[in-house]
Amino acid sequence: MQKLTSQSEWIARAQAILPAGGFGNFDPSIFIREGRGSRVWDEDGNEYIDYLIGSGPMMLGHSHPEVMEAVCNIIPKGQTFFANNTLGVELAEVICEAVPCAEQLRYVCSGGEADMYAMRLARAFTGRDKIVKFEGGYHGMSAEAQMSLAPEQLANFPLPIPDSAGIPQGVADNMLIAPFNDVDYIRSILAEYEGQVAGLIVEPLQRIIPPIPGFLKLLREECTRYGIVLIFDEVVTGFRLAYGGAQELYGVTPDVCTLGKLIGGGFPLAAITGRQDIMTYFDKSKVGAEGWLMQLGTLSGNPIAACAGLKSLEILRRAGAYETLREKGNAVMKMIHDALGPTGIGYQIVGDPTLFEVVFCDHQPLNYREVRAGNGNHSKIWDQCLRSEGIFKAPGKIYPSLTLSNADLEQTKHAMGKVGAALSETG
Ligand SMILES: Cc1ncc(COP(=O)(O)O)c(C=O)c1O
Repeated sequence: MQKLTSQSEWIARAQAILPAGGFGNFDPSIFIREGRGSRVWDEDGNEYIDYLIGSGPMMLGHSHPEVMEAVCNIIPKGQTFFANNTLGVELAEVICEAVPCAEQLRYVCSGGEADMYAMRLARAFTGRDKIVKFEGGYHGMSAEAQMSLAPEQLANFPLPIPDSAGIPQGVADNMLIAPFNDVDYIRSILAEYEGQVAGLIVEPLQRIIPPIPGFLKLLREECTRYGIVLIFDEVVTGFRLAYGGAQELYGVTPDVCTLGKLIGGGFPLAAITGRQDIMTYFDKSKVGAEGWLMQLGTLSGNPIAACAGLKSLEILRRAGAYETLREKGNAVMKMIHDALGPTGIGYQIVGDPTLFEVVFCDHQPLNYREVRAGNGNHSKIWDQCLRSEGIFKAPGKIYPSLTLSNADLEQTKHAMGKVGAALSETG
């Protein structure tokens, strides 16, 4: 095969073989060749400071030497066995010690898969069918999760709008969609559907939108009142907002929680965790064939992923890890204010110092519709200019990493200043 060197050749090759020219995840006009620490390089050798960090997992930085060493030590022992392995059990113990709701755990390979099982588990446990989900909440690619994920057309709540073709109406019939951070709406919908709702799934910090004070507590109280399984999707927030995740930071414990990204240290691993009396529905010997939720997967609990996850969580337990992450996040937030404040353009920094984004609007958005109403043209300029100034990020999110150095932050500040100037010119 002919050796290809330039990124444009790879782009052409991808366009020929991959639908839409990519893996479906990210802008297909860039190929990342390599990542080290806080930086990534594309196939043309351009260097970027990485605020995408693999869409979250690489919070310690790329190719962290201790994680790499642990993984390289076990690779010669084999890749995968399907049978139990000790690393997977050790990691499950570490997670259950850290995460308030976690009494038992099952592994899968992706966050979306974990969310799919969590919703099914709520149905198995309660014997009910309906699931409440928030508009704009992201829970992977299952049919349920595709309901009102990022709807272009807005419907009256609780009507779900599928974001994907190929989903039967029967799925929509059992989904109820609610606006995030709306206390009154949640109270009324749960009262109206009393006895029918199996589970309520929520990102405790939805994409970038923090919960208003008391919102998660209200969800907790209402789910308890109606016997609904409260599911926190902590695929992003787990081990990021705090070592014990959003449930530790906000002090609200769900019944079930899903984890992914950080727990696999950059390898494919995710998990469903929760109360033992609910998790027991994965055990046929306890609940019988009728109640049992069958769950398995070829690579679930893969030892290499578990090894990388164990080492990553060990590093995160070291003194000062979360303070450092927050300091770096706060430093970037301040740079944004310094760069955008003088432009006079309406903007808000939305999120938590551990993950956030700029939304170009005049007040803090509380839900999907308010984020969507922000100035999309300004957001496009923001993303494009940052990329051209050597900042690698996804539209809609900035992920600080622990490995950002002072030099990275200086360069980020310079880039933000340039983007502020570019935005000023657009008026
Ligand atoms: C909150 C949330 N849940 C679930 C997922 C799906 O995880 P995965 O991409 O591993 O399937 C994501 C992915 O970004 C996510 O942000």
